[in-house]
Amino acid sequence: MKELNELILESYSDLTDSRLETLLEGREKPVQELTDAMRYSTMIGGKRIRPVLVLEFCRVCGGDPDHALDLACALEMIHTSSLIHDDLPCMDDDDMRRGKPSCHKEFGETTALLAGDALEAYAFEVAAGADLPAEATVKALRLLAAATGPYGMLGGQVMDIANESADDVSLQRLQATHQKKTGALIRAACELGCIAAGAEEKQLEAARDYGAALGMAFQIRDDILDVTGNELLLGKPVGSDAEEEKTTYVTLLGLEEAEKRAKDYTGQAYEALAAFAETDFLKDLTEMLLTREK
Ligand code: IPE
Ligand code: IPE
Ligand code: MG
Ligand code: MG
Ligand code: MG
Repeated sequence: MKELNELILESYSDLTDSRLETLLEGREKPVQELTDAMRYSTMIGGKRIRPVLVLEFCRVCGGDPDHALDLACALEMIHTSSLIHDDLPCMDDDDMRRGKPSCHKEFGETTALLAGDALEAYAFEVAAGADLPAEATVKALRLLAAATGPYGMLGGQVMDIANESADDVSLQRLQATHQKKTGALIRAACELGCIAAGAEEKQLEAARDYGAALGMAFQIRDDILDVTGNELLLGKPVGSDAEEEKTTYVTLLGLEEAEKRAKDYTGQAYEALAAFAETDFLKDLTEMLLTREK
């Protein structure tokens, strides 16, 4: 990634971190254990890709990223809640996340379960208070809920679990799983930025296309890193998919073909950016995510 774009990435990520810190400031007992767990999982790390996309799509649509900040933080909280639940023993059963013990390892399963729920609910409270016109806020809330719910990320998580140990998972089924479990929130990130900027339908559509393609490339890369990655860099266990007998792009197509598909989706994402001006940063980010090691 070019130096200037690295600086932009860092500044978006710092902006998000500092707002999240404020939003997740400790509350009084008896709920302190819960708020500690919410803050722990949100603040221990994470690439902040989704908030960065919200803020940058707002900017390329002519909006002020500051007005999109609470939507960006809300989405990162929903994403973090999905990771807390994803790591639970009843799901992927992983002990490490973002380079630290998973939420349930640090706080116990009960608190982790509730912290995930609480982060998701709190995200909607934060999004509802965003510094935006009422109509845009309602549109954003509806989009966030749809991207999170049974036909979005959560539906995808159900499909992912059902794909365990199954020997008849088609490529089409796996694609649909990835589109929901990971694609839904990444696509929502791009759309939320447009909504915050009051963008027209044509740009929203292009943002949707970009997010859908990037989401696929992102999860295929995640599947690849689960096989080839370095645990220290990745901050989460390698080999988790094999242990849970998941069907992934790697198990279905092999490493080489999975890499090719990730590249193809990255190409599709690039094409969708034609609808926007000033896309140097987004192009760089898209490229960087294709070869990321964490
Ligand atoms: C991990 O997401 C889960 C997937 C959807 C693949 P990220 O790779 O964005 O995780 P963090 O936020 O950087 O920890
Ligand atoms: C991520 O899928 C999907 C969600 C958390 C919604 P994975 O289970 O592959 O994510 P990692 O690899 O644990 O981060
Ligand atoms: Mg999972
Ligand atoms: Mg997992
Ligand atoms: Mg994974």
